[in-house]
Order: sequence, then C-alpha cells, then structure tokens
Amino acid sequence: MSEHRCNIALTVNGERVTETVDARKTLVDFLRDDLILTGSHVGCEHGVCGACTVRVDGVVVRGCLMLAAQCDGAKVETIEGVSDSGEIADLQAAFERRNALQCGFCTPGMLLTAQELLTNGQAPSREKIREHISGNYCRCTGYHAIVDAIEAVAKQRAGGQT
Ligand code: FES
Ligand code: FES
Repeated sequence: MSEHRCNIALTVNGERVTETVDARKTLVDFLRDDLILTGSHVGCEHGVCGACTVRVDGVVVRGCLMLAAQCDGAKVETIEGVSDSGEIADLQAAFERRNALQCGFCTPGMLLTAQELLTNGQAPSREKIREHISGNYCRCTGYHAIVDAIEAVAKQRAGGQT
C-alpha cells in the first residue's frame, strides 16, 4: 500500500522548511528523522510522558500527538531553538546546578514545560510547579530537584534577576 504524501511549508526554529512528508508522520518523527532535530524525544508515543514536547505557534504541544501535516504554515520551536536563542539559559543552568537531570531523556520536554509556566513572570508555588509538570514523566530524579530548579528560576525572574 502506498503512503499518501503531502507538501508542507513551516518555520522551524526560525528557519523556513519545505518538505514532502507521509500524511501519517507525527511531528516529532518529522523533526527527528527529516530535520535531525533529535532533542525532542520519543517515549510513550501516546501523549502521556511529555518527552516529545515542542512548541507550535507558541503553544506547548505533544509532538507525538500532532501530525507533521497539521503544522503546515505553523511556527515550530524545539529545544534546540530555545536553547540556541538563550531563552531558557537560566533554566538550563539551574537544572545543571541542582542536579535536576540524570539520563536527560525527560529534560528537553521538562524545560519547555517549565518555560511555559514561567513566561508570565509570576513565582508559582511548589505545588503549582508540580501540577504544571505532572504531564512530564521523569524516571530518574524523583522530581524534587526539578521542582527546586524551576522554583529558583521563578524567584529569580520574579525578582528581576538574571
Ligand atoms: S512520546 Fe509523546 S507524550 Fe510520550
Ligand atoms: S532525568 Fe532520566 S527521565 Fe528524567
């Protein structure tokens, strides 16, 4: 059976991309296989673990639950993009400083989800942080260090520090 293919044009991390993709290809597979942006990980492939988290038109989504074809005309941002731009440099530094990652499999998704929470400049409670990252699974850390890191950055940002 031949695959149905379609042409898509989108922006990925600020660069214009045009590709022909299988209609059933997920966004995360497209990013990893076609664009070699392998920072977005594939875990459950069912929208549960958050390893595939990316931003589409500014909104955090599960890359395994979106089709690449649905992103025609969209602005997609991956961990590579937000890392290169320096947008989450403080979060990355805090994760490293507080040992908030071990194997690193969950980390790209965790960082993007944390950034989503912190973009409004508020300093959320630890309970709110836990609630917000509850859709991002970590097999290694037990979450305490991750919450510590996010809380520290939230306080820094709310206090106007870098
Ligand atoms: S791989 Fe997408 S949520 Fe788990
Ligand atoms: S650091 Fe290993 S899954 Fe989170």
